[in-house]
Amino acid sequence: MRDVLAPESSRWAAVVATFAEHARRAGFGLALTPLIEHLEVFERVGDSTDIVRKEMYDFTDKGGRRVAVRPEITAGLMRAFAEHRPPTPWKAWTVGPNFRYEQPQSGRYRQHHQLDAEIVGTSDPDADVEVIALFDGFQRRLGLRQRTLKLNSLGDLAERPVYVDALRAYFTAHAADLSEQSRQTLSMNPLRVFDSKRPEDAPVLEEAPVVLDYLSPDAAAHFDRVRSGLDALGIDYVLDPRLVRGLDYYTRTTFEFASHALGSAQNALGGGGRYDGLVEQLGGPAGTPGVGFGAGVERILLACDAEGVLPAEAATADVFVVDTAGGQDALVLSAELRDAGIAADRAYDGRSMKAQMKAADRSGAALALIVGADEVAGNEVTVRSLRGERGEQVRVPRDKVADYVREHR
Ligand code: HAM
Repeated sequence: MRDVLAPESSRWAAVVATFAEHARRAGFGLALTPLIEHLEVFERVGDSTDIVRKEMYDFTDKGGRRVAVRPEITAGLMRAFAEHRPPTPWKAWTVGPNFRYEQPQSGRYRQHHQLDAEIVGTSDPDADVEVIALFDGFQRRLGLRQRTLKLNSLGDLAERPVYVDALRAYFTAHAADLSEQSRQTLSMNPLRVFDSKRPEDAPVLEEAPVVLDYLSPDAAAHFDRVRSGLDALGIDYVLDPRLVRGLDYYTRTTFEFASHALGSAQNALGGGGRYDGLVEQLGGPAGTPGVGFGAGVERILLACDAEGVLPAEAATADVFVVDTAGGQDALVLSAELRDAGIAADRAYDGRSMKAQMKAADRSGAALALIVGADEVAGNEVTVRSLRGERGEQVRVPRDKVADYVREHR
């Protein structure tokens, strides 16, 4: 788990603001749900996944309830949808932390943050395309170029057993070549064997039956529409028939954006897909479809570093108030300027003029506003430039300071 302090946090603010703007333009409203949910909410979405079985921070609360700190956001959002039944299509975006007890390494943390967008209540393939386009446009806006959209369809739940049987038969025939962990996974859910990143499993996974060969006519037609929608928007993608994603709820479309600028184990910038049975499982109306994605904020920032985009910006004040009169001028003048929409910083502890001027330089402010005994007597402020023509200074009447700063900051 990481601490994020300024100036790095300025990049977080920029990433969230960019996402919020893209989501707003596409008609999504902000939804905020609790970090803690009843354990069943998560058990329903991933009974056979590592995320739910091995990595969850679950505990019994003081009221004796079995609860968990969320490992992902979609389940809580769909629980909220089932509870409140907002009008559909419900388009919700959110941002927040998720907790998974993983092996920490660069790009993989026990607390990570996701930006998330979901559309609930429509099966229209355009909704799949629109969430992908939202994610794509957001990354483009950040300046991320070295990335690939991977696309797959997992078909409908009704036809899933036929594919899973074929997969089980294939993996069982090749069990001797699979890792011990994958053999265990196979006995629970053959689909989850695809989650393995262990090199010894790769050759077996490579030759496994692919789900795209098992799609029903409806699911195949849906997938064709998604693909032609992406083409119409000029969004490139590659088909990845082994993209099953790490949660159990996916049906039909699944996708992931991978960064080429990051190491292959942690290169997923985010992913998502359809989950047409999830709302019903969480107590919502039968047959409610949904589609969405989660983007990893830490991964996105690592990709920005690797591509040299979105530098951190130190918060700079417009002015720095230097007060050598010893009264309350720094306090009052700073407050007046802040009320007038000007970013004003100041020194504390009655430090010397020299120390305060050093602090003014460090602050990155364009102007120092100096209040000494003379200025107080004349009801004025000395304004000294800290950039360009350094040291240039003028006396400005106290009631004209805000106007002067607006013109010269
Ligand atoms: P997910 O693929 O588990 O999907 O997570 C989404 C993204 O969160 C990943 O692609 C990655 O960028 C980031 N992420 C996940 N775990 C970590 C970690 N330990 N450290 C750093 N970043 C991480 C979901 O969670 C789904 N709820 C997405 C979704 C929304 N599907 C439909 N709607």
